[in-house]
This record gives sequence, structure tokens and C-alpha cells, in this order.
Amino acid sequence: MSEPWPTAWENTQLLITSRHNVSPRRLVEPGPDAQELHSLLALAAAAPDHQQLRPWRFVIVPAARRPELGEVFALALADRDASATAPQMEQAREKALRAPLLMVAVACLGPREPDVPALERMVSLGAAIQNIALGAHALGYGCGLTSGQALSSPRLAELLALGPGETAVCCINLGTVSKHKAASTTRPEPGDFTTTL
Ligand SMILES: Cc1cc2nc3c(=O)[nH]c(=O)nc-3n(C[C@H](O)[C@H](O)[C@H](O)COP(=O)(O)O)c2cc1C
Repeated sequence: MSEPWPTAWENTQLLITSRHNVSPRRLVEPGPDAQELHSLLALAAAAPDHQQLRPWRFVIVPAARRPELGEVFALALADRDASATAPQMEQAREKALRAPLLMVAVACLGPREPDVPALERMVSLGAAIQNIALGAHALGYGCGLTSGQALSSPRLAELLALGPGETAVCCINLGTVSKHKAASTTRPEPGDFTTTL
């Protein structure tokens, strides 16, 4: 074992354990600027990636395109529920408009050489998302992941120009936290999820 790096260890512990999902309702301007976003995406590129397949990508949805995303969310709701009311559709639309920065995480699970199982590809995407979330947290921004049935709507696939085997997994919402809240989740103890063979 090489020498531990005390400051890095302490900072890493603090960074990881203090990160919490932030509802996009509490994310306001400013969001990460272009340079910060580039740096966050470079962190995603450092995710573990078996066979260097890079089985994921991110689609940034700039402010000017958010109304289109909102419309997809509303129409996806109407597709699922023909009795959806106008206020419910408006609420669905609004989900696309909240955070200063929004990107959609896309998993690339279709045939690609070399072949790597879908589960391994999802592990890589999860790590890439976590790298972004932790990097944003270190920069002082909040990060909220949002998903839901609209993510699997063909309307969204069309808007994002998803290719064969590509799946939209979740939205990554980034911005300044307007109101800090006590964490609503408790973390499990290592013993809760670890056994020894
Ligand atoms: C793929 C994915 C999708 C998620 N989608 C949502 C969501 O739609 N709404 C939500 O409130 N949280 C969502 N979350 C965040 C989790 O609810 C959150 O991570 C969990 O409650 C643990 O809280 P913590 O991240 O603050 O530790 C999602 C997380 C992941 C990994």
C-alpha cells in the first residue's frame, strides 16, 4: 500500500457523505458556467469503463430548448393518461424549466464492439453521473437527479435523437441551492449491505 494522502481522504469523505440530492425546485441561478460544465464532463470521462466503450452520453438541454422538453413531458403524460388535466400537464411541463442547467443522461446499451453486458454499461453510467454530482457539489452547486415514465417516452427519444439501443435514464439538474434542507435520507451502515463469504 502506498502512503495515504490524509487531506485527500478527509476531503473525499466529507465531499461524498455531505452530498445530497437537491430537488430542482430548490435549484436557482447561477448554474455552472461553460468552463465548469466542461470540467464536470471531464470528471464523467474518468468513470470506470470496461473495455473503454464509453456506454453513455449526456444531452445538454439549453434554456431555449427547455419548452420543447416540457412539451414532451406533458404529452408523454397525456399518452399514459388520457384523463390528465390541464394543471397536471402544466406541472409536467414545468419540470423541464426549473434548474439552471439540465442534461439528460443516456445509456448506450445496443450492440457495440467489444460487447460488454448492459449491466456493466449501467455501472459505468452510474459512476459517470456520480462523478458529475460530486464535482458539482465540490464547486458549490446542488445536483438533483430526476426520472419518471416520460424518460421512456418515444417522444423524448425523438427529441433527443436517441439511436438504436440508447435509453434516456435520468435528468441531471444543476444549480445554486436556494434553500438548504436537513437531509431526508439516512445512509445504511456498511454491515447492512456487506457479508463475508
Ligand atoms: C437514476 C436515478 C433517478 C432518480 N430519480 C429521482 C426522481 O425522479 N425524483 C427524486 O426525488 N429523486 C430521484 N433520484 C434521487 C434519489 O431519490 C436520491 O439519490 C435518494 O433518495 C438518496 O438520497 P441522497 O442522494 O440525498 O443520498 C434518482 C436517483 C437516481 C440514481
